[in-house]
Amino acid sequence: MVTWGKRNEELILPINSSLSVTLHQDQLKTTTTVASSRSFQEDRIWLNGKEEDITHPRIQSCLREIRRLARKRRNEVDPSLDSTGLSHKVHICSVNNFPTAAGLASSAAGFACLVYTLARVFGVEGELSGIARQGSGSACRSMYGGFVQWIMGQRDDGKDSLAQQVEPESHWPELRILVLVVSHAERKPVGSTSGMQTSVQTSCLLKHRATSVVPGRMGEMIDAIRRKDFASFAELTMRDSNQFHATCLDTFPPIFYLNSVSQQIISLVHRYNRHCGETRVSYTFDAGPNAVIFSLQQHVPEFLQLVQHVFPPETNGGQFIRGLPVKSTSLPEEL
Ligand code: ADP
Ligand code: CO
Repeated sequence: MVTWGKRNEELILPINSSLSVTLHQDQLKTTTTVASSRSFQEDRIWLNGKEEDITHPRIQSCLREIRRLARKRRNEVDPSLDSTGLSHKVHICSVNNFPTAAGLASSAAGFACLVYTLARVFGVEGELSGIARQGSGSACRSMYGGFVQWIMGQRDDGKDSLAQQVEPESHWPELRILVLVVSHAERKPVGSTSGMQTSVQTSCLLKHRATSVVPGRMGEMIDAIRRKDFASFAELTMRDSNQFHATCLDTFPPIFYLNSVSQQIISLVHRYNRHCGETRVSYTFDAGPNAVIFSLQQHVPEFLQLVQHVFPPETNGGQFIRGLPVKSTSLPEEL
């Protein structure tokens, strides 16, 4: 269930609740390493081998909040705790093994991994999704495995805008997720943050969606997941993705994240389901052209064959298609 649009930019508070599945495997992952030393003069961060601006407000929020919790823990829980590490600067090195800023949720994986790793370095435990949220909204859900909702919350200070696990990853072992990489192009034309701002300012469909559609759908989606009702889950997922991209088109000037291959995949899924006489496959597209396909284990081989038939390797420029089981949760290898 997509979230798009914020009611508070600084704290990253959304205009609706949302739901995602956390993938944990080696094919799509972020690896973050944090070193802390008395000899470091300043905090620094490298992303995919290139130094980035550490003063970025979202990175600063995460660093500040983790250090605040570390100091709090030292003062309240154990004043005798060795405090030397608390004043040390950190060097952060993070690598995504999949396209960054291309609609495959690198911001969610990246900030979840960053917050988890910083917490380990500074000896902080407990509820951390509120901090991850301040790095990238969707990162709060990626702090947990399995099916996770981000409850939008009501408070102005954001203290109740947190992630909560709906079901663990062991809940639905037959569920499969395929990522059809439509474009390897690095960086989407409009980044999520600025795209959302324009949508909130200009799209009345987005307002309608946030207030009148998503609240009901969240309950239905959670119910479908709990019952492992694939047909209901699949239809809700497709409708939600389509409505999200409709709000992008309703944004002025409009934002296009889907391309013609994305549209062909959408048609293919509907044709296949109609042919089967039941819903065996569904799609969702984040803010990018790459398709995330949901199916059940027993239907994956046939659907993959179909995809390879419709998009033969000679014409697709070496795209890769990956069948990913949804499993295990242990951080930091989160997506
Ligand atoms: P995506 O669809 O990949 O999530 P976004 O536009 O939402 O695209 O976010 C991309 C931004 O997220 C990057 O420009 C960068 O600022 C941040 N980001 C991505 N990966 C990482 C990472 N591993 N560590 C820290 N920040 C990251
Ligand atoms: Co993102």
